[in-house]
Amino acid sequence: MTGRWLAEHRQERYYRLAKRLDYRSRASFKLMQIDDRFGIFEEGDSVVDLGASPGGWLQVAKERVGDGKVIGVDLRPIRPIEGVTTIIGDVTKKETMDELRVKFGGKADVVLSDMAPNVGGNYSTDHARSVHLCTFAIDVADHILKKEGKMVVKVFMGDMFHIVRDDLEKRFQSVRTHAPDATRSTSSEVYVIAKGYKGHRPRRMAEAGDDKNRTVFTKKGELT
Ligand SMILES: C[S@@+](CC[C@H](N)C(=O)[O-])C[C@H]1O[C@@H](n2cnc3c(N)ncnc32)[C@H](O)[C@@H]1O
Repeated sequence: MTGRWLAEHRQERYYRLAKRLDYRSRASFKLMQIDDRFGIFEEGDSVVDLGASPGGWLQVAKERVGDGKVIGVDLRPIRPIEGVTTIIGDVTKKETMDELRVKFGGKADVVLSDMAPNVGGNYSTDHARSVHLCTFAIDVADHILKKEGKMVVKVFMGDMFHIVRDDLEKRFQSVRTHAPDATRSTSSEVYVIAKGYKGHRPRRMAEAGDDKNRTVFTKKGELT
């Protein structure tokens, strides 16, 4: 038995389990495993799920937060799930974010992103698109996440991974990278789990280096 055969066998097992337990995707098990290991959800939490179709993560989030608010956004429609609100839209578009703010109405305890670009043949391009989607997911968190909130983001591994990790490390107290068992062993995707959101950090200010916690240098290189 080769490693590849074993990996495929394991994925097939998750696929059959999802069918049997009425989850919409194998991805449901990834989120369950992440939550079991890192403690993402608490009863009553409000959750925003980006890239939510067909709805496997929404099912798990709803089960785990009980009466908490859960909303999912995706380019594709999501079949209704009891107690869950959905939006069809592009997370990179302002109008989608405006709709999210109106429909969600308040701040979230958890922001999830399982967004993935349409993969083509060129891995570098797919990786760059994945990183691009992550930066939008982080921007959503900057607008909607509560202080001390949590975030889980999927990213395709590659040489720009540090952009996502650095962005998260600036904003959260702890940042961990993890590949759950339900992820294909041949896949390059990983999940970044960020906990303890430090508060709103407008992207433009951050890029301008206007950060009170940073050491600031004058033009002459003297410490100020
Ligand atoms: C791996 S699937 C998500 C599976 C989902 N977590 C589940 O458990 O059912 C990735 C999703 O990201 C969505 N997506 C990609 N780019 C997006 C964007 N710009 N805005 C919203 N959704 C996006 C895709 O349409 C796709 O449904």
